[in-house]
Parts: sequence; C-alpha cells; structure tokens
Amino acid sequence: MSGFFGGLTSYGDVGFSRFIRKVFLSSMGLDDVDLDRPLIGIADTSSGYVTCHREMPQLVEAIRRGVLEAGGLPIVFPTASLPEIMMNPTSMYLRNLMAMETEELIRTQPMDGVVLVGGCDKTVPAQLMAGISAGIPFMQVVAGPMMPGRWQGEKVGACTDCRAAWSDFRGGRIDEAAIAEIAPALAPTGGTCTVMGTASTMACISETLGFAVSGSATASAPTGERLAIGTKTGRAIVTAVANNLVPSKILTKSSFVNAATVLGAIGGSTNAVIHLLAIARRAGIDFTLDDIGAASAAVPVLVNCKPSGTGYMDDFHADGGVPQLLLRIREHLDLDAKTMQGGTWRTNLESVAPKVLTGGLREYDNPILAEGGIRVLRGNLAPNGGVIKVSAATPALFKHEGRAVVFESVDDLMLRIDDPDLDVDKDSVLVLRNAGPYAAGMPEAGALPIPMKLAQQGVRDMVRISDARMSGTAFGTVVLHIAPEAAVGGPLAAVRTGDLIRLDVANNSLELLVSDDEIANRLAGHKKASFLPDTSWSAVFKATVLQAWQGADLDASRLENK
Ligand code: FES
Repeated sequence: MSGFFGGLTSYGDVGFSRFIRKVFLSSMGLDDVDLDRPLIGIADTSSGYVTCHREMPQLVEAIRRGVLEAGGLPIVFPTASLPEIMMNPTSMYLRNLMAMETEELIRTQPMDGVVLVGGCDKTVPAQLMAGISAGIPFMQVVAGPMMPGRWQGEKVGACTDCRAAWSDFRGGRIDEAAIAEIAPALAPTGGTCTVMGTASTMACISETLGFAVSGSATASAPTGERLAIGTKTGRAIVTAVANNLVPSKILTKSSFVNAATVLGAIGGSTNAVIHLLAIARRAGIDFTLDDIGAASAAVPVLVNCKPSGTGYMDDFHADGGVPQLLLRIREHLDLDAKTMQGGTWRTNLESVAPKVLTGGLREYDNPILAEGGIRVLRGNLAPNGGVIKVSAATPALFKHEGRAVVFESVDDLMLRIDDPDLDVDKDSVLVLRNAGPYAAGMPEAGALPIPMKLAQQGVRDMVRISDARMSGTAFGTVVLHIAPEAAVGGPLAAVRTGDLIRLDVANNSLELLVSDDEIANRLAGHKKASFLPDTSWSAVFKATVLQAWQGADLDASRLENK
C-alpha cells in the first residue's frame, strides 16, 4: 500500500514530489492519520446527460461511507460517462475511449484500489476493461435498474416497452395521445433500463465475473438496498486491497465461461458478446466467440425478464437475482471461479438458501426457453461469425429463405424503409450494411424497423441481418455483428437486392445463395469506407479498431497478461 505517495509526479526530486503533494493535500484538511490509510479511488460517472445515473451521487456517498468504515480513505474522481440515448452516432463509438481514459486515470493518479461506479450500457464494460488493464484491485457498483411504471393498468418499463409502443404507433394501433401518455410511465425513476437490456446484462456479468458483491446486480436504483450494496462494496474493496487481489489473481477462462453461461440463462443482450470478448482480451485470456456460443446455448433461459420473457428486473430481484440463478445452473458452472470478495462462487453460494420463486426466475425444469438465448452463426455471409438472440426471436423464422432488400447505410435505411414503393414483402430479408465498427462505430441499428406498409398490415417480425448491433431491450429475428463487416470487404458487401439469403438457426448457419466465384467478383476492388466524423478520436479509432468477433476493442489496448 503506497496511498497518496504512490506514483509521484516527476519533478526530478523525489523529496520535493512528496513534499508538494503533502502541501496540496493539507488544503483538503488531510493529515498523517488520513494519509496512512489505504487510498481508495471511486470513479464517479454521474453526469447530467446520463439520466440512468441520476441517483448516483447518493450511491457514491454510500461507497465512501463503506470505505471509511473499513479504515480506508475514499477519494472520488469523475470520469467520462456515456449516455446511451444521448450520443451520436452511438455510445459504442466511445466505449474504448472511456476505457482508455478510465484506465489512465487509475494508473496516473495515486490509489491502492478503486471502485468503479457505472450503469448505463457501455459504462460497465468500459470500466471492466479499464480496471483489468490498470491491474490494481477494483470492484464495481452499478447504478441499478429503474423501477417500472404503470400505463392503462399494466406494468411498463424502459425499454422493451418503448419499442413495442413505438411499433404499435407506427402500425397505427395506438394514437398520438397514447404515445405521449405512455412516455413518462416508461422511465419513472432514475436507474438503468428495467428489462434485461445491456445494462442489466452487464451488471449480471460483472457480478458473475466476481467484480461486484454477490447479489448486487439487480437491486433497483432508488432503494435503500442499492445504497447498502454501495456501503458493502466500500468495505469489501479495502479488504481486497489488503489481500492484494488484483484482477489477474481472480480471472481465469472459467470466469468468462461462467459469464457466458449466465448470459444464456438470463436471455441477455447480444451486446454482451462483444463486451465479454473485449474484457477477456484485456485479461489476456483466450476466450472466443465460439466459447460464448457454446456456453450460452448449453443452458436454459431461466430469467423471466423482457425481452426474452414477460417480467422486469424488480421481478428477478424479488426472486433473489444472480445468486439464486447460479444455484439453479450450478451444474453448468465452474464454482471454483474466484471473486473480489475473497472467496469462490462455491463459498459464496454456501450461504445462499434456495428461495421459493414467484415468477421472476424459473426453476431449471420449467424454463422460459430450453436453450440459452444467444447463438453464433457462420456461413459464407459471416466467415468470422454473426449472432442471433433466439430467446427474443420468432421460432417460425428460425429456418427461412428470402429475397434480400439491401440498405447501404443507416442513413439509406432511414431514407427508404417507409417508402411506399419499396419492393419488400413479409418474407424478404432486410439487409443493413456499413454499420459495423469501422464504418460507423457499430450503432444499435440492427433491429431494422418493419417497413411501414408491412407494419400497417400487421407484420411484427421479419428476418433482418447486419454488421450493426441492436439494443439489449430489442426483439425480433435479427442477425447481428456480421464479421468481417462490409466496410472492410466482408461478404456482406457483396449482397445485392434480390439475392436469396438462407437463415438456419438449428444449423447455426447464414448463407448467401450466390456462388463463391460470384461473391469474389463482386468484392473485387472493394474500398474500405467509414462514415465516422473526421475528428482526432475517429483517426485513432479507425486506425486500430478490431472487428466484432474480437470485441471491437482497439488493437493497441494494454493487456493485463502481456
Ligand atoms: Fe441507460 Fe438503458 S439507456 S441503461
């Protein structure tokens, strides 16, 4: 433990560096008693733009209290924060920048351990990537899900219901007054989306990886329980520092296989596939897209949460959250995986008695879906893979052959999707390209809207494929993350409107029914293209971003075990 006197500023005189640091610390009223304690940084992502983090100041205060109670000295510092709904073109474009910034703030400021406080979609993976690369003891506390609201007597919440309401509005099933009335009911409190979207998924994954205290992923943001989790984490990080529990001491391949298993069992967000790959890569652990597909598909979906089920995060929490889930899928897990709380999942679960379930979580033999939520597809259209979330898709479309209707970019999609003259029917396969990491920062545009004229005929789902992502709160028969992306010359760039495409989920296959020679001809002379703005960050990003199957991290990012 080196506290405030670790990582001294370089003045060429160590004595002076210590002296001047002490001078400035005295302006905060800190004396030798304070400076002799383990120094715990608290990375605060409160931001006026991140509505999901509205309750975070109180949570940070609770973490501070826990650190003090355990004999540490808490120092709060701000970092970048990524508001999912507010960023153009997409918060994913800045995930790696936030990871880089957070890592550097951990590494360049003195701290013996750190608590990373995140919540909204990309903040959690960015912090996990940063914490692992920084390599000091860290724990994570999430903001927690918001409470659901009520509309016309029904429980509703962001943001699967946002999408359903918007789809009903587009299809003419509800009117302007109704869509205006439902809006505030969809997000009635601070906190992250209250379904199993990316934020909730990553919260469950952070807990499974061992970086968040057991049972912490699911408690609602506005509750005292959420604050108690903060305090408990504050105490726990001081112990982790005393035991020098750096990430490399707890993470193994099993940690990630467990996380992918949980991803399947919660019917979690496809975004977590990319984030898990990036996080494992930071840890220097050989963990692949196929590892995720195999682990995710081997377990039933047990969490009854939208979009895979019908409930909300408070229902899952009422049934005990992640520890109760792990009890029920323990045969699929390596319980010797360690956690930052000091033990293993085996020791953690020893104190967890099975609860009588009330609908938020199902027993193993009564699942929402017999097989886990995410499948990895391959074929001549996706040599490096694509993913589909079967738990949120339409089984009748799992085996489907249809005529491609191609959109060249997200802008082209927005321009033409509702054109009454668009040559499309319910069996068409909607194709979006140039929306991958290099082309566009990988926006959540993969759940293409059903063309207006079909929506008005009552069509609710179609096969859609792209190199984009989709929101964890979205649903539909949607193939995502196709790699290599079209912009770097992947076969998706060769598809023409009218080509036949075959999706066969049972055989994990996605094929363009065009000969290999013809595909090669069409791709000859393809030029790399990006729609990202011309900025300093985009220059760095485009020069070094990896493809989806590699986690879309920057190639240059520091790896823990390198
Ligand atoms: Fe922040 Fe969904 S928009 S978690």
